[in-house]
Amino acid sequence: MENLYKIPEHVAIIMDGNGRWARRRGLPRVFGHREGAKRVEEVIDFARDVGIKWLTVFAFSTENWGRPKEEVEAIMSLLVEYINKKVPELIKRDIRLRFMGRIDELPEMIKKSVEEGEEATKECGSMNFVVALNYSGKAEIIDAVNKAIKSGKQNITEEDFKQFLYIPEMPEPDLLIRTSGEERISNFMLWQTAYTEFYFTETLWPDFNREEFLKALYEYQSRERRFGKVLT
Ligand code: FPP
Repeated sequence: MENLYKIPEHVAIIMDGNGRWARRRGLPRVFGHREGAKRVEEVIDFARDVGIKWLTVFAFSTENWGRPKEEVEAIMSLLVEYINKKVPELIKRDIRLRFMGRIDELPEMIKKSVEEGEEATKECGSMNFVVALNYSGKAEIIDAVNKAIKSGKQNITEEDFKQFLYIPEMPEPDLLIRTSGEERISNFMLWQTAYTEFYFTETLWPDFNREEFLKALYEYQSRERRFGKVLT
């Protein structure tokens, strides 16, 4: 019973199925990403309204560079467009925009938008909206290990290690949602999802509305989280 109204502190989402959504309508894949970006906006509002404190979305993986050039460019320009247009709204809603991934490797224009978006919202405190961009879980672990080596530490604990991740203060996700029927982690937050509840839905990302999010929350509330312990 105690879980019945529990709101996860951190929800992470693998937004999958944009391409299939477009193909089913006979449209180019880019249309799926455009529609997907609209769902991101709705999901942010919903998450903030129900009291989720951290929302992380997987927007672009280090492997996604292998997609056709036009698709990569379309996703990148959607992101820049999103940041440039939405930052004033995020500020109004007191939402802090953050990015995680190998941001340094991104083209200058994107890096500039990312930095400006983070800077402009850095005082906002109702919710953190994190965009995983040029991100991979293995790369994050390797980057953390290299930071640890550079720091001169000979021996580290789990607590020490967390301090070297992209966003050290980020709590581990309570719930991870993946849309479109795929049931894999696909190199997303490998360290942080050790005890995360996974929720998979057949719904394609461009169809993932408030009602679908609510279904995922209900499912989360019905789960018993034991963190490896025996229930008393
Ligand atoms: C997965 O669908 C989706 C992506 C790789 C891109 C997600 C990016 C956006 C929605 C852009 C906007 C983001 C923000 C934060 C505003 P897929 O192309 O792999 O679909 P498929 O598996 O059906 O081919």
